[in-house]
Amino acid sequence: MKILFVCLGNICRSPIAEGVLRTLAKQHHLQWQIGSAGTESIHVGEQPHHYSQQVCKENSIDISHQRAAQFSKDDLDRYDLIYSMSSDVYDILKKTCGASFDENKIRLFLDEIYPSENRSVKDPWYGELDGYYEVYDEIRKGCEAIIANHSGEENNKSR
Ligand code: 4NP
Repeated sequence: MKILFVCLGNICRSPIAEGVLRTLAKQHHLQWQIGSAGTESIHVGEQPHHYSQQVCKENSIDISHQRAAQFSKDDLDRYDLIYSMSSDVYDILKKTCGASFDENKIRLFLDEIYPSENRSVKDPWYGELDGYYEVYDEIRKGCEAIIANHSGEENNKSR
């Protein structure tokens, strides 16, 4: 399975999701490839936000090597599942992908826990450290749900 997380800047939310799911997948012996990207180009090449790095580090997850990249339509071919961290990002992806948009592949991240409730992971960019702890907890639950809901898919594929 190849899974991509997408937010706006690829420095706050989706880098946390990338680090958390990579760690959980490893713990579950899943050979998953995990990436993240932003719809915007402004932070391309940057490390994750220092608060995102801090909350991950406090949970023994090192995301310091990750670098921001911009989402491209080619990612549709590269990944099996693409998770939008929020509904505004989902709408941007819909526009960017145009006729190639595939709603089976591009999903709202929190639909894994709260299907059809159109919930978003709050953008912590304008806030302080406490917002990043909240975001981390929500992302952790969502990633645990991805493992629970999708780990059988790889098993089926490899049989
Ligand atoms: P992210 O947060 O989408 O979770 O990475 C943001 C980071 C930067 C900006 C907005 C959101 N920005 O406007 O630069």
